[in-house]
Amino acid sequence: MAAAVALGAEAIQIGTRFVACAESPVHTHYKQAIVDAQATGTLMLNTKSTPCIRALKTDFSRALHEAGVMGPETFQDIQDVYFGGNINAAPALAGQSAGLIHEVHSASQIVQVTVAHFHAITVRLGAMAAGANFS
Ligand SMILES: Cc1cc2nc3c(=O)[nH]c(=O)nc-3n(C[C@H](O)[C@H](O)[C@H](O)COP(=O)(O)O)c2cc1C
Repeated sequence: MAAAVALGAEAIQIGTRFVACAESPVHTHYKQAIVDAQATGTLMLNTKSTPCIRALKTDFSRALHEAGVMGPETFQDIQDVYFGGNINAAPALAGQSAGLIHEVHSASQIVQVTVAHFHAITVRLGAMAAGANFS
């Protein structure tokens, strides 16, 4: 959040972390796959077409990644990823932020910790600005 705001953003969108939050209705296998993923644990799919999407590295997504394109049937079994716990039924969508997610937390904890870290970083950066002396 601090990095995005430093680059000029006025808000941030958080997706993957909330998919893996305690209140999220998705299957524990999907949440655990996000928790287990490293920063390199996702793949860009459909790169030879549009839209590009990012998904967890699985046997299913590796095959799509190799192909570089995906057909209209790609998401037909997505409900089985979300609610059946079969992360090879369709692309299990996730961002590279999966590599920063190490535990399942409640939505309120995620918001509180994100905002607290944002304030800690901006206070530190603000102190740098206040202490600047270019004279
Ligand atoms: C389950 C899931 C579904 C998503 N669906 C869409 C979508 O329909 N359209 C889109 O542009 N991005 C979609 N995204 C990508 C989000 O825009 C992306 O997650 C967002 O930029 C936040 O990044 P983060 O997931 O790393 O927090 C989806 C992401 C997830 C995890």
